[in-house]
Amino acid sequence: MAKDLILHHSIKVYDNESQLETPDLQLLEAARKASEAAYAPYSGFYVGAAVKLANGTIVTGNNQENAAYPSGLCAERVALFYASAQHPEQKITSIAITANSKKITLNKPISPCGACRQAMAEYETKFDSPIRLIMCGHSGEVYVCESVSVLLPLMFTEKDLGK
Ligand code: THU
Repeated sequence: MAKDLILHHSIKVYDNESQLETPDLQLLEAARKASEAAYAPYSGFYVGAAVKLANGTIVTGNNQENAAYPSGLCAERVALFYASAQHPEQKITSIAITANSKKITLNKPISPCGACRQAMAEYETKFDSPIRLIMCGHSGEVYVCESVSVLLPLMFTEKDLGK
């Protein structure tokens, strides 16, 4: 007889970004500014991410596309990898993600793709400290969750490799 493994996770939903606490709003604004400089000539989908480090530093990134499509990279990983490359010892405390599209009205939060969730999981595990996620579209509701594990339950980590 199988038993159920019940996972309890919740996401806070704000009506709009004006309801956010100042630090989250500032991070979201940094992500929005970054999205404006995205290189997205193929999708017309402009994503921005802003990563906050324990010492208060904010590192931003945006999606970088390529004529050879798979060679491009998402905004989240551009920001995370840059943060880790430049500040390897600084814990990542939060990440804000936003997007704008040339083709559709983005009035609901965008949530990171699976590969970006896995990259975030790596840093959450590395520092043994949860990363807060703030997700928003061009306008509308904002989702906030307290850990990458909310978006990636049963995540594969270094522990699975016996580390
Ligand atoms: N993209 C991101 O940058 N982040 C996401 O979480 C989802 C998708 C980018 C990749 C590509 O440049 C464009 O959005 C369309 O998929």
